[in-house]
Amino acid sequence: MTVESLLDAERQAHVDELEKAVIRWRREGGREPLSSEALPALPSGDAVAGDLEWRLRRHDLAVVRSELAGLKAELAGPRAELAGPRPLRILDFGSWNGWLSHRLTTDGHQLTAVDAFAGTWSLSAPWPTPPTWRRIQAEMTDLTRLGETFDVVIANRCLAFEPHPVTAMATLRRLVGPAGRLIATGLLVYGDAEKARLRLAAEAAAFRTRFGVDMLLRPTRGVLDRGDIADLAAAGLDIHATPGLRLANIRARFDPLRPAHRYGVA
Ligand SMILES: C[S@@+](CC[C@H](N)C(=O)[O-])C[C@H]1O[C@@H](n2cnc3c(N)ncnc32)[C@H](O)[C@@H]1O
Repeated sequence: MTVESLLDAERQAHVDELEKAVIRWRREGGREPLSSEALPALPSGDAVAGDLEWRLRRHDLAVVRSELAGLKAELAGPRAELAGPRPLRILDFGSWNGWLSHRLTTDGHQLTAVDAFAGTWSLSAPWPTPPTWRRIQAEMTDLTRLGETFDVVIANRCLAFEPHPVTAMATLRRLVGPAGRLIATGLLVYGDAEKARLRLAAEAAAFRTRFGVDMLLRPTRGVLDRGDIADLAAAGLDIHATPGLRLANIRARFDPLRPAHRYGVA
């Protein structure tokens, strides 16, 4: 299956160039893209052992699986065993290299992976066998053009990068069919987000100096604070502490510079 695109030609050319610059930027910072062999084991495997980012993603996967199990039981009702398992139709928004789409496909679900970036770092990552999930290059603003709804829409570690997290949540929610769910995992919430925002702004400025373009597709603060989470909750996202990260969440309570780990369901 090839990667489809909903971007117009001009935007696609910009995004594709930007991705090449991001890959170079990462390489210059000593961060090589993951190898083909490493991809199927994600979020685990030797290539990412000891990497905090991937340790957190293992928790994201556990949360997603637990929510999907609950939803499947709910949708199937008491006659689930007679009816047999029905795969859920899932949109993985901001799918990046497809690690989550791969895992959930392997679990028996039908996945559509959407990301703005379609190069070898993201939708066209070098999987050792061709991905069987649908892959679509699209931005948040293109999603209505998908023209379909899903049992589940997942946004893992994405809402912080949206200019308006609540608007993004509403956009994603419109893609959820009746009785379905929006699951927003990997929400890092800072008591004091200023330092993290300044760090991101400094990186963005250095990137602009190096490549002459903005690192981010759209202006964003890049970090959620408690106000953002309160707004998301008020808009209907049921917020939970991420199980398994209890200690980190306790630390965050006493140190506003450390993030609390949350996920939300609507
Ligand atoms: C922090 S990464 C998270 C990737 C993946 N969900 C994970 O947890 O490993 C955010 C991803 O969302 C994509 N993304 C961010 N904003 C987007 C937008 N407005 N439209 C489409 N993709 C977007 C980025 O390209 C990136 O792959």
